[in-house]
Amino acid sequence: MESVAPDSAAQSVAIVIENTRIARDTYRLRLGDRSMARAIRPGQFLMVRPGPLGSTDPLLGRPLALYDVVRDQAGEAVAIDVVYLVIGRGTAALAQRRPGDQLSSWGPLGNGFGPPPAGPVLFVAGGIGQTPFLALARAWLGNARYGDDAPSPTIATSATLFYGARTADLFAGLDDFRAAGVAVELATDDGSLGHHGYVTELVERRLERGDRPALLVGCGPVPMIAALARIARAAGVPCDVSLENHMACGIGACFSCVAPIIGPDGSTDLRRVCVDGPVVSAQDVDWDHMA
Ligand SMILES: Cc1cc2nc3c(=O)[nH]c(=O)nc-3n(C[C@H](O)[C@H](O)[C@H](O)COP(=O)(O)OP(=O)(O)OC[C@H]3O[C@@H](n4cnc5c(N)ncnc54)[C@H](O)[C@@H]3O)c2cc1C
Ligand code: FES
Repeated sequence: MESVAPDSAAQSVAIVIENTRIARDTYRLRLGDRSMARAIRPGQFLMVRPGPLGSTDPLLGRPLALYDVVRDQAGEAVAIDVVYLVIGRGTAALAQRRPGDQLSSWGPLGNGFGPPPAGPVLFVAGGIGQTPFLALARAWLGNARYGDDAPSPTIATSATLFYGARTADLFAGLDDFRAAGVAVELATDDGSLGHHGYVTELVERRLERGDRPALLVGCGPVPMIAALARIARAAGVPCDVSLENHMACGIGACFSCVAPIIGPDGSTDLRRVCVDGPVVSAQDVDWDHMA
C-alpha cells in the first residue's frame, strides 16, 4: 500500500453546478472546482461537507469517489462529477443542495489506481461501487488522462463492468459506461434485471469459461469484495479493490477508517484507508477481520 501525503489535499469552496437525480435515490453532483478537477485521478476521492457553506450540520465530511472530470471546449478540466446514493443524514443533506450553492470540500485524497494492465479488465461493482470505474475505464482504455499522469505505455484491451444492485431502478450511469466503451453485465438480487443473484456469480461464470482477465477490480459492500477476493485467489487472477470504510477526516488524522492489512512479513496491521488506500490489493486484506 502506498501512503499519500495528506498535504496533497487542498480545502476548497466548490460551487454546485448541478445536482441531478439519475436513478432511485442516486444523484450526480457536479462541482465547479478547477484545481480539484486538474489534479484528481481515478480511484481518488474527496471529502464533501453536505450542508451549505458555513454550516456544521453535519459536522463531518463524507467521502465520495471521483466519477469523472468535466472539461470545457478547449479540453481544460473545469469541474468534477461525483455520483452518490442517499443512505443517511449526510447524503440526504447533500441531495438538498441546489445549483449556485457553495460547499466545503477537500481533496484529492487517497492513492488512486495504478497504470492499466495490458489485457482485458473486469470491474466488479456492488451497490454504489460503480462510481470509481467510469474515469478509470476512460483512462485505462487510453481515452482520457487525469491529473498529472504521464501517458501509460500499456492500455487495457477491453473493459467489462459487472454491476450488481438490489433492484433494477438502483442502477446508475449505465449509459455513461457504455459510451466509454465498457461492456456492461448486470445482476439484481430480486431478478428485476440481468442475472438473478449475486454479481460475483457472473464473474465466476466468466472465469469458468476460461475467459481470464489481466486484472479484476472490485468496489462495493465488504461481503461482495471479500467474495471477489476469494474468487480471484482461486483463479490466480490479480485483484485490486477500492475500500469504502467509514471516514471522518479523510487525511490520516483520526484513524476512523482503519482496515486490517497483511504486511510482507505476514503480520496484520491496521492501516488507514484514507491515506494508504482506498485502492489495495485484495490479497493484502485480512478479510476475516474486515468490518
Ligand atoms: C473512498 C470512498 C469513496 C466513496 N465513494 C462513494 C461514492 O462515490 N458514492 C457514494 O454514494 N458513496 C460513496 N462512499 C460511501 C459514502 O461515503 C457513504 O455512503 C456516506 O458517507 C454515508 O453518509 P450518510 O451521512 O448519508 O450516512 P450515515 O448517516 O453516515 O450512515 C447511514 C448508514 O449507512 C452506514 N454507512 C455509512 N457509511 C458507510 C460506508 N462507507 N460503508 C458502509 N456503511 C456505511 C452507517 O453505518 C449507517 O448505518 C465512499 C466511501 C469511501 C470511503
Ligand atoms: S478518515 Fe481519519 S484517518 Fe482516515
